[in-house]
Amino acid sequence: MAADTGGAVAGVAAGAANDSDAEHIPIRGEDDIVLARQRARETARRLGFGMVDQSRIATAVSELTRNVVRYATAGRGEVTITPRTAPSGGTGIEIVVADDGPGISDVQQAMREGYTSGSGLGMGLPGTKRLMDDMEIDSAQGRGTTITIRKWRR
Ligand SMILES: Nc1ncnc2c1ncn2[C@@H]1O[C@H](COP(=O)(O)OP(=O)(O)O)[C@@H](O)[C@H]1O
Ligand SMILES: [Mg+2]
Repeated sequence: MAADTGGAVAGVAAGAANDSDAEHIPIRGEDDIVLARQRARETARRLGFGMVDQSRIATAVSELTRNVVRYATAGRGEVTITPRTAPSGGTGIEIVVADDGPGISDVQQAMREGYTSGSGLGMGLPGTKRLMDDMEIDSAQGRGTTITIRKWRR
């Protein structure tokens, strides 16, 4: 019991809080790319990110959402935008882009600059990694894809 409470407090300190502030945007088609991009920019602006970082965050969300529309057409997708607090007390933003499409069989290959299984430029995933502070890809063939990105205010 006491250990559970301690864990919960540690979780908050590590920045897991503010889940009630999470904003969910379903991805159903092309129009939702623009919507997710706008919402991410707006939340970043509200959290005090500068213009350049707002654009970086918006571009990253746009790329990941576009991938869902392009490659997870059979599945559903959702973008979740959540304000985060760093252990140091700093402000950040976390965005999770999830789908239950075909998944990525080789994540390392997908992260390579120029790799595309379609007719893209193959810059979306590596570009997103450069634009953000953190990026985690959880994906496997047939299991869908969940990509989490974070950026902290400087
Ligand atoms: N949500 C996704 N579901 C399935 N495959 C994906 C997804 N996102 C990316 N991929 C795979 O990763 C590859 C690289 O993605 P990306 O770097 O954005 O380049 P591009 O979109 O130009 O192909 C894609 O070609 C695709 O094979
Ligand atoms: Mg792409």
